[in-house]
Amino acid sequence: MRTKLVAGNWKQHGSLATNIDLLAAVREGAAGLKAEMAVCVPYPYLAQARSVLDGGRVAWGAQDVSEHLQGAYTGEVGAAMLVDFDVRYVIVGHSERRACYGDTDAVVAAKFDAARQAGLTPILCVGETLAEREAGITGKVVTRQLDAVIARCGAAALADAVVAYEPVWAIGTGKTATLLQAQEVHALIRARIVTDDRTVGEELRILYGGSVKPGNAAELFSQPDIDGGLIGGAALVAADFLAICAAC
Ligand code: PGA
Repeated sequence: MRTKLVAGNWKQHGSLATNIDLLAAVREGAAGLKAEMAVCVPYPYLAQARSVLDGGRVAWGAQDVSEHLQGAYTGEVGAAMLVDFDVRYVIVGHSERRACYGDTDAVVAAKFDAARQAGLTPILCVGETLAEREAGITGKVVTRQLDAVIARCGAAALADAVVAYEPVWAIGTGKTATLLQAQEVHALIRARIVTDDRTVGEELRILYGGSVKPGNAAELFSQPDIDGGLIGGAALVAADFLAICAAC
């Protein structure tokens, strides 16, 4: 039985002053909900997230991690540093990092590996651009992104991970994939993992991300292979994030 997970991705938003109300409201609102919940905050706010969320039902996470354990890598944050802040989840391979910061499939696989070795749960993002969808190569792109991780870590490594399918054209655009489009790719992702490891594939949580809102969450989450969501914009408004969590 796969427990649904809703993870917020705050991206580069927030401040010490404004986070307090958001974190406190999420903690309080989460008390009566069944889904697993997490918020992935900017690095400087991990200590604050821990202090507000500790002992509650909402886990906290980061949005990226270095592929290196430690060393002369100015600006990077290592997985062990995240462990110091009791982080549970870390997003790897978000399309914004792939597009703006040159995270290749190989780099994403290395980050996934570093996160796992430190005992963190990676949330591996995969997804196609609009051009790739229109060219009919969505399945090929998503499979290539998964295969890079499987080649490096093995399919069994996904037992300690979460996958998020985020069509790039649906992120922050207000355009959501149709239920059929989303379910089709989720099923393909699961089938790819099942090919290598049936149990891991069947147990794998596959989140949908891309303009999830209170109004469309319930129908998305009712699809057989959609096990929750990775939420950007709506995670910055406590009532919206909690409504999405309640839709599980
Ligand atoms: P969005 O972002 O919900 O604002 O579309 C999702 C994401 O980028 O993870």
